[in-house]
Amino acid sequence: MTAETSTSIESAKAGGRSLTAIVLAAGKGTRMRSDLPKVLHAVAGRTMLGHVLAAAGEAGANRIAVVVELGQGTVASEIARAAPGASVHPQVERLGTAHAVLAARAALEAGSDDVVIAFGDTPLITGATLTRLRAPLADGAAVAVLAFTAENPTGYGRVLTQSGRVLAIREEKDASESERAVTLCNAGLMALSGTHALALLTRIGNDNAAGEYYLPDAVALAVADGLDVAVVPVDEAEAQGVNDRVQLSVAEATIQARLRRAAQIGGATLVAPETVFLSFDTVLGRDVLVEPHVVFGPGVTVGDHCVIHAFSHLEGATLAQGVSIGPYARLRPGAVLEAGSRIGNFVEMKNARLGEGAKANHLTYLGDAEIGPGANVGAGTITCNYDGVNKHRTTIGAGAFIGSNTALVAPVSVGAGAIVGAGSVITASIPDDALAIARSRQRIIEGVAGGMRAALQAIKASRSKKDD
Ligand code: UD1
Ligand code: CA
Repeated sequence: MTAETSTSIESAKAGGRSLTAIVLAAGKGTRMRSDLPKVLHAVAGRTMLGHVLAAAGEAGANRIAVVVELGQGTVASEIARAAPGASVHPQVERLGTAHAVLAARAALEAGSDDVVIAFGDTPLITGATLTRLRAPLADGAAVAVLAFTAENPTGYGRVLTQSGRVLAIREEKDASESERAVTLCNAGLMALSGTHALALLTRIGNDNAAGEYYLPDAVALAVADGLDVAVVPVDEAEAQGVNDRVQLSVAEATIQARLRRAAQIGGATLVAPETVFLSFDTVLGRDVLVEPHVVFGPGVTVGDHCVIHAFSHLEGATLAQGVSIGPYARLRPGAVLEAGSRIGNFVEMKNARLGEGAKANHLTYLGDAEIGPGANVGAGTITCNYDGVNKHRTTIGAGAFIGSNTALVAPVSVGAGAIVGAGSVITASIPDDALAIARSRQRIIEGVAGGMRAALQAIKASRSKKDD
């Protein structure tokens, strides 16, 4: 099985501590140069915000609060879809990360043992990491900081320590030269104990180079109060934020590497993994073989022992065991392929079920259709499902044979075991076991071909003389 797996999340939930997750998603994302709010850009088939909300859920959040830019209705509807119980808090002015957290003050006031703060534009963060981040709170820490050691720390807040103890986080703009040399960087995400969260956050001021209320200032305040501050390590790649489309593609590459690896570890062979694109929810069974250049959009489940030949594109499709598709197959939402069925090159399926052992091997469109077990759909068959206004269904019975180049004008049904002659245009339903032929009858006119050819050659010769 693939799909991003999150490990041992249950252990933290089992601790019985309640968790409020606050996701900061305000900001226009100007550098994306997009009509779409930044957090709605997708990686691995899911919005960045959707990834972060899922991670919060995996970490056991019983309350999720999202801070959004005022008037971004599309963000609110994505939250309603991805995390139906989450509350939405507009941040009227963008005065810094601590100010943003306090926009969700109502969620903090509701009270919880732990608070985790995540960023909507940091989509690679996993539920497992959020679980590690909150863990020190159970041991009495007031604040836990997620941090990594960067080769090039430029731009990040630096985590300042003295003899192994955290003192403060200093933003780049406010850092002295010696502080800038520090390579331990703040990943931005933070956990606060519910007991101290509001008291710390409301004391954060904006006396700094940017004039912003900095969430990382919670660290120095906690230290001054004699409270414990923990540092939790994370990979820099996992904490990577996305500000422009170059970083969006870097995040995509990172998550693809993760998903491909999980698919391989789960028992699928990816012949050329770097050419296979997976979605966050792709499920591949045991001994699935995926040839090069295959794209899995969201909502695909592939059963054991399936073969996905090269250059296939799947989305919203379910394949039972031992199914073979492609090369160049296209499965659109609602395609269901029962055990042992197969579709070949340039076959498209949409909202259609192919029964057990049924075949459509070449150049075919099956839309809004039900194909019975063992049926054989010949090359160039088209289900004409759309009359320009409405969609209609085609039903093909078990063991039926559809001759090549057949148009099935829906609504229409082909009975079990029936045979349709090649080149037919089927407009009326066919009973079981019947033969249907719907094409113009062939005429033979003997002994005229030679004369016709001579006449055509004469026309050609007279034309080329004129051209001279
Ligand atoms: C932040 C940290 C920095 C850390 C870095 C890691 C602060 C002050 N600094 O800096 O120490 O190294 O992340 O990437 O926290 N946001 C709001 N409303 C605001 C301000 C920000 O919703 O008023 C959201 C942004 O949309 C973004 C997140 O908070 O998702 C982080 O804000 P950003 O301005 O990008 O912080 P950094 O400068 O990256
Ligand atoms: Ca940032």
